[in-house]
Amino acid sequence: MSSSSPLKLRSQAWFDNPGNPGMTALYMERYLNYGLTRKELQSGKPIIGIAQTGSDLSPCNRHHLVLAERVREGIREAGGIAMEFPVHPIQETGKRPGAALDRNLAYLGLVELLYGYPLDGVVLTIGCDKTTPACLMAAATVNIPAIALSVGPMLNGWYKGERTGSGTIVWKQRERLAAGEIDYEEFMEIVASSAPSTGYCNTMGTASTMNSLAEALGMQLPGSAAIPAPYRERQQIAYETGKRAVEMVWEDLKPSDIITREAIENAIIVNSAIGGSTNAPIHINAIGRHVGVEVNVDDWQELGHKVPLLVNLQPAGKYLGEDFQHAGGVPAVVAELMKHGLIRENAMTVNGKTMGENCRNAVIELPDVIRTFDTALVKDAGFIVLRGNLFDSAIMKTSVISKEFRDRYLSNPSDPEAFEGRAIVFDGPEDYHHRIDDETLEIDEHCILFIRGTGPIGYPGAAEVVNMQPPAALIKRGIHSLPCIGDGRQSGTSGSPSILNASPEAAAGGGLAILRMGDRVRVDLNKGQANILISDEELAARYAELNKHGGYHFPASQTPWQEIQRAMTDQLADGMVLKPAVKYQKVAQT
Ligand code: FES
Ligand code: MG
Repeated sequence: MSSSSPLKLRSQAWFDNPGNPGMTALYMERYLNYGLTRKELQSGKPIIGIAQTGSDLSPCNRHHLVLAERVREGIREAGGIAMEFPVHPIQETGKRPGAALDRNLAYLGLVELLYGYPLDGVVLTIGCDKTTPACLMAAATVNIPAIALSVGPMLNGWYKGERTGSGTIVWKQRERLAAGEIDYEEFMEIVASSAPSTGYCNTMGTASTMNSLAEALGMQLPGSAAIPAPYRERQQIAYETGKRAVEMVWEDLKPSDIITREAIENAIIVNSAIGGSTNAPIHINAIGRHVGVEVNVDDWQELGHKVPLLVNLQPAGKYLGEDFQHAGGVPAVVAELMKHGLIRENAMTVNGKTMGENCRNAVIELPDVIRTFDTALVKDAGFIVLRGNLFDSAIMKTSVISKEFRDRYLSNPSDPEAFEGRAIVFDGPEDYHHRIDDETLEIDEHCILFIRGTGPIGYPGAAEVVNMQPPAALIKRGIHSLPCIGDGRQSGTSGSPSILNASPEAAAGGGLAILRMGDRVRVDLNKGQANILISDEELAARYAELNKHGGYHFPASQTPWQEIQRAMTDQLADGMVLKPAVKYQKVAQT
């Protein structure tokens, strides 16, 4: 279709509504005052928003300020008018008490902007962890034509001839710092080396995960997610994205046409193959709920667990973002999955073609970076879901479990072995930091570390703290990790096989609230069970005691938004969405 199409543009209700000349004049004159002409606004050109997530506060996405120029040129080239506007910034590493608190705030803000202004379509500038779900959730709710543009990962980090991956390097080097192997200066230098350019985390953390999944969902142009931020191809794809946004308006291709159940299944399967973050189920489930697709935490095990790990990126593997791009990026992964019948090939994508059409001929260019099924890094690499008297659900990322642990506890269903340990329980990250080296706790290799009070209510937005480092004394003895369980999240850049996202959290009356220091806990990965070894009577008595004291106590809110979010949030298993928001769907049409 072209601009002569009979399709009535949404923006005409503002700028070209002869039935209400007074309002039309009011709306229009102010948009003329910076140089747009009346003809531009009234000649039936689609108005395309550029939802700008970059700013000085959000360095991971800051390069979008530059890319937006190429997006504008693409929009103009295709006969549209660009209107750029800011989205509430979310910087994963800069926001206290945690960036995830702001995902729903940015979502709410963007819903209002997309609904309330004269926009016919939108380019979503995605990147740093929570910016991607916030934008996709809002586009799903409003349901105007939308296309995502990733800012792209940073270049590979290097230190003394070795790749240093952002985030992952912190988890590794803080152990060396704790063990006295490096000093503060060297620690800082190594960490800084992992961030050599503009862009988001070069590891397969939550950012690369969510940007890859935005492509797997069909919401980004094929082959665009993995292009590093500084590459020329990044500018070129920004231009193509702008052009395509205009065409999507004429084709009336909306998020609800793209983010279907099939698309979400593709995202779940791709997530296993790339070794994606444990934050992915939270965000993908949230996107699904806002677009009206049924998806739950069990889908992640049922669809994703048997998928092998194909992408050899840190933290599960060894390479980084530039390598992923040169190896073929998301299309090469999808093509390999297609050969094994794992992709819903008919899922529609933003370029108007199906996932199958887009990826069928993609090839793996670097066979050590993207593996085939025959050379997969790990078989059965997706998440498993656990449940029991500790929680209704929690997940574990199996692609990062050590070989010894996997062989002993997970890979032998005919002779299942559970692991048992003595519970060491911390109430929130501050308590953990105060007491982890407390010798009176007698933490040894037979302990399981627990952290609670870190879910969406207990620690607004849910803290990324479940991957707890053992006491320094243990690390010096060569014990670098202990099993960790909690109602918080963990960074996607962490290679720790924690059991996390426990729902309901302690603050919502989950079983973690009644766990006590020294309890025996048994975890059976093969059966998907995690239980405190106490009798039903003892369990009931502990709940009675907890309720007598008004439930699990957590620190007071520090800002208005913390209080509002706490009052309205759903649990991690259900996407941590704002419960009242879910009923608002396809609001642009109503
Ligand atoms: Fe922004 Fe990792 S901190 S992408
Ligand atoms: Mg993170």
